Amino acid sequence: MKQKASLFLIFFLCASCQLFTQSYGKKTQAEALRHLYKAKLHKKGSIDARHFEGFPFRDESSVLPQAGLKEKDKVEKLPGQPPIDFDQYSGYVTINQTAGPGCSSLAYGAMEELGPFRVHSDGKTLYRNKYSWNNAANVLFLESPTGVGFSYSNTSSDYYGGDRKTADDNYLFILNWFERFPEYKDRDFYISGESYAGHYVPQLAHNILQHNHMANATVINLKGIMIGNAAINDETDLKGMYDYFGTHAIASPRTIQDIQKYCDFSPNATTQPTQCEQASSQVNRDIDYLNIYNIYAPLCLSSNLTSKPKKASIMNFDPCSDNYVIAYMNSPNVQVALHANVTRLSYDWQPCSDVIMGWEDSPSTVIPLLREFMANGLRVWIFSGDIDGRIPVTSTMYSINEMNLSVKTLWHPWFVGGEVGGYTEVYEGDLTFATVRGAGHQVSSYQPLRALSLVMHFLTGTSLPNTSRY
Ligand SMILES: *[C@@H]1O[C@H](CO)[C@@H](O)[C@H](O)[C@H]1NC(C)=O
Ligand SMILES: *[C@@H]1O[C@H](CO)[C@@H](O)[C@H](O)[C@H]1NC(C)=O
Ligand SMILES: *[C@@H]1O[C@H](CO)[C@@H](O)[C@H](O)[C@H]1NC(C)=O
Ligand SMILES: *[C@@H]1O[C@H](CO)[C@@H](O)[C@H](O)[C@H]1NC(C)=O
Ligand SMILES: *[C@@H]1O[C@H](CO)[C@@H](O)[C@H](O)[C@H]1NC(C)=O
Ligand SMILES: *[C@@H]1O[C@H](CO)[C@@H](O)[C@H](O)[C@H]1NC(C)=O
Ligand SMILES: *[C@@H]1O[C@H](CO)[C@@H](O)[C@H](O)[C@H]1NC(C)=O
Ligand SMILES: *[C@@H]1O[C@H](CO)[C@@H](O)[C@H](O)[C@H]1NC(C)=O
Repeated sequence: MKQKASLFLIFFLCASCQLFTQSYGKKTQAEALRHLYKAKLHKKGSIDARHFEGFPFRDESSVLPQAGLKEKDKVEKLPGQPPIDFDQYSGYVTINQTAGPGCSSLAYGAMEELGPFRVHSDGKTLYRNKYSWNNAANVLFLESPTGVGFSYSNTSSDYYGGDRKTADDNYLFILNWFERFPEYKDRDFYISGESYAGHYVPQLAHNILQHNHMANATVINLKGIMIGNAAINDETDLKGMYDYFGTHAIASPRTIQDIQKYCDFSPNATTQPTQCEQASSQVNRDIDYLNIYNIYAPLCLSSNLTSKPKKASIMNFDPCSDNYVIAYMNSPNVQVALHANVTRLSYDWQPCSDVIMGWEDSPSTVIPLLREFMANGLRVWIFSGDIDGRIPVTSTMYSINEMNLSVKTLWHPWFVGGEVGGYTEVYEGDLTFATVRGAGHQVSSYQPLRALSLVMHFLTGTSLPNTSRY
């Protein structure tokens, strides 16, 4: 955390990893989200897709004593870390759930996306990311849900997750975290995330609003949310994904026509006709050899670490970064420095958990939540890296279209560093849509400067520049 800035931002990373990965070997985000969509389309896992509403009310009794724990969380120095001018904390916040899962902070995504460091190819040393988001705010990384990364529970039933449980756990985490770091309690608070965090972020924000309302007090000073390449509305997310493949020379327009004609993406569909199955199998073959999270990215051809760090550049994302981060996070001295894995878990740290056993609920849409935020004066930004094929820009545009909003500022390019950073349109009710040009699913991995510019404008509530002159 950087003490200078007065804002506070929590970011959910690698948020789709943990879903439906148990039987698919090496876990990747792409795999995970694909299996969730598939399961939902066929109602295989009998996932509850109803709207998100219920939550247990959490009062002061949910907050455990935190005195002295902040000091223990201070990270003196990470192994292999270059000099820095900000403070870092890392540790566990134990939450008193019925079954008591623990949550950890600082995650793998922080090491590849918007955090202050990236890992060298030796898997041992770090280098600075000068476009880190802690230039703009104090940033908190949360490994959620339970079972992800260093987050764990001693009760195996906690590893059956779901949207509702996750939102409740995340709310409990924040309540307790503020107790441990009370100096941040009154700060403006923002939540951001990518991918399946299109669910986590709005659901947590909803819990915060409801609790503030029921307590008749600003328990948490939530000001806005920002989600990127986010799962928003299953039906349009899927439609938009296939249209993206058809218009980016990935799938044949004929196949896409069949998909749009025969597949039923509506939340109530239980089976799909053979023509739909055939066409979607064809598309799966077409995308098989791509990194679908960035359709133009090179693949990682060797998972080996190097004995000396390769020359690295923040502006040129290394497709083998996962391997470096896995090595780094599994090194015992890093875990000690992070105050992580204190109970000696029986499995390795993984970017995408295979500990989570199943998923109970996943509403088919979060649009009602986005409407609720707009009605309550929250700032809502939705961004999209425009070369992601998993939740592509077309999906996001279709989902926003579903909201029938009136345009406040017409579509225009936005600029940073004298170049087009992307395109944006602003809607009545304080909803901003912005693309990030040349970015894949993990926007700040691929376009760190543009992503930082975006988050700075979001946090200050200023419109994205419509000319390259400033
Ligand atoms: C945790 O919650 C249970 C039931 O809600 C309560 O009985 C118990 O005292 C709580 N434990 C702590 C440490 O607050
Ligand atoms: C899990 O069990 C270990 C060993 O008994 C204990 O030290 C730790 O505090 C427990 N963690 C939680 C979150 O209950
Ligand atoms: C909520 O708080 C305000 C200001 O403290 C007070 O005027 C109002 O009566 C309270 N409303 C309820 C329903 O308690
Ligand atoms: C889907 O099913 C629900 C509950 O059975 C029903 O209320 C809703 O109208 C259906 N939606 C469509 C689009 O058929
Ligand atoms: C990776 O390491 C293995 C085992 O040390 C070695 O056999 C292999 O040739 C290496 N691959 C590359 C591409 O360097
Ligand atoms: C935790 O520590 C144990 C023992 O040092 C190690 O084997 C395991 O891989 C670690 N797991 C995680 C999730 O960090
Ligand atoms: C959006 O507008 C369309 C066409 O006017 C209408 O059919 C639909 O119900 C509206 N959707 C919402 C969520 O208001
Ligand atoms: C560009 O943005 C500025 C500041 O927001 C505004 O005053 C101006 O009218 C905009 N110009 C165009 C061409 O939209």
